[in-house]
Amino acid sequence: MPIHEIAHPLVKHKLGLLRQKSLSTRSFRQLTAEVASLLTYEATSDLLLENYEVDTWMGKVPAQRIKGKKVTVVPILRAGIGMLDGVLELIPSAKVSVVGVYRNEETLEPVAYFEKLAHGLDERLALVVDPMLATGGSMLATIEMLKKAGCTQIRALVLVAAPEGIRRLQEAHPDVTLYTASIDQGLNENGYIVPGLGDAGDKIFGTK
Ligand code: URA
Repeated sequence: MPIHEIAHPLVKHKLGLLRQKSLSTRSFRQLTAEVASLLTYEATSDLLLENYEVDTWMGKVPAQRIKGKKVTVVPILRAGIGMLDGVLELIPSAKVSVVGVYRNEETLEPVAYFEKLAHGLDERLALVVDPMLATGGSMLATIEMLKKAGCTQIRALVLVAAPEGIRRLQEAHPDVTLYTASIDQGLNENGYIVPGLGDAGDKIFGTK
């Protein structure tokens, strides 16, 4: 599975700010969206182009436009919503496929409780967004859902990834490409990424 840990100075700078202990909801939300935009920039760097001619004030001029695959952004509820606007900033025409996954506390298995996917997934590149790739449970369940719906090109965009989640993703879906601002040390006993960002959902929504 291709893994891109983005070393761009803006990404590293904004990630450092996101890690700050006392950061307002507004700033956390803003930085999350900004890093999501930068990850989107990287995750779309190999999209195919086609040539065409654009009518300009000087007559026809050769230009290029993105060819082929259309995009769907797939935020995983709840925290993935925090990255959505950052992706749409760069790809405003993308369709949004919302997925909700929770963990059954007895079986510890992820269960999909909400799914509203864009049409024509077999012709779309899916950018799955979730700030934290921790155990990987939600990401795996979402990818399975997308594949079942016919999606064949999937990229996962996360702010921070734990090696445990990367391993699971790699084993289950080697065809998926991962883009992350940081691969952190690992998970603690509560399943939080260390050092991570704390509870990203609570910080984005201001619920703690
Ligand atoms: N979800 C979070 O919000 N933070 C983590 O560290 C792990 C999962």
